[in-house]
Amino acid sequence: MKIRVLGSGAGGGFPQWNCNCDNCRRLRHQQMNGKARTQSSIAVSTDNKNWLLFNTSPDIRAQLEAFPAIQPKEGIRDTGIKAVLLIDSQIDHTTGMLMLREGKEPLNVYCSEMVKQDLTTGFPVFKMLEHYCTVKHHPVPLDGSSFTVEAIDDIRLYTHSLKSKAPPYSPHRHDPHEGDNIGVIIEQISTGKRVYYAPGLGEIEPHVLSAMQNVDCLLVDGTFWTEDEMIACGASSKKAQEMGHLAQSGPGGMIEVLNAIPDTRKILIHINNTNPILDEDSDAFKILNQNGIEVSYDGLEIEL
Ligand code: MLT
Ligand code: MN
Ligand code: ZN
Repeated sequence: MKIRVLGSGAGGGFPQWNCNCDNCRRLRHQQMNGKARTQSSIAVSTDNKNWLLFNTSPDIRAQLEAFPAIQPKEGIRDTGIKAVLLIDSQIDHTTGMLMLREGKEPLNVYCSEMVKQDLTTGFPVFKMLEHYCTVKHHPVPLDGSSFTVEAIDDIRLYTHSLKSKAPPYSPHRHDPHEGDNIGVIIEQISTGKRVYYAPGLGEIEPHVLSAMQNVDCLLVDGTFWTEDEMIACGASSKKAQEMGHLAQSGPGGMIEVLNAIPDTRKILIHINNTNPILDEDSDAFKILNQNGIEVSYDGLEIEL
């Protein structure tokens, strides 16, 4: 199976339009050894023709233009996108559906009932798309059980609920529900190869650890290096944990978690623009390197 990283950045991307943090400023002025990044999404295929999108980024248009394998091949209107799976209802993961409105077929969207609720109320993308391509919603399991996706051959998915917060516009923002955020194991049926994808991972619950221990590749939350990174640079008053993200450094951080899992390729994704790992000459980037942890970038392709 092939996994294409369409966008490796967190909400806002890198650099963020209004951000003058050390990273964003230095990247803009070519004073950093680092790469610009679009907002969070991956595409997966086993035939290089039919693709399942995980999340739809506000930057999807540029992401598709940079990726010939998913572009129109036959007839006046065509696409390699056969379905979309949404991890949550956050803006950086769902806004791209509006850019897919010209589709000639209903958009097949796999997501939890909670995400569907947000996308028909607080951020009514599903309702808006009724006036364009329309959405065909497929509910996903929250208990780790498996399912397959129409028109996507040789892939089996296993989805489970993660502890997180619904977005600010959700009707249940202050009342967390199962399915506000999910993790997914993507498995190629014919080879048994598996990747675990969780771009928003605040807590390593037992069922999450067990999923992480049983895959060939981890594509997990790389949002923040430290718990108070946004506060320290004056960008926000929110801690990583409050936003549903486990920071990489320190006791119990993502590096420690990953170090306890042997024989797996480990890749961080959904990297916030304040994170020092974006600077490839930084100590943080070197520490990841020493621990065998990679930092994903837009256009990275993983073959499993
Ligand atoms: C998050 O991952 O915490 C959110 O997407 C942040 C945002 O985009 O506002
Ligand atoms: Mn996000
Ligand atoms: Zn910034």
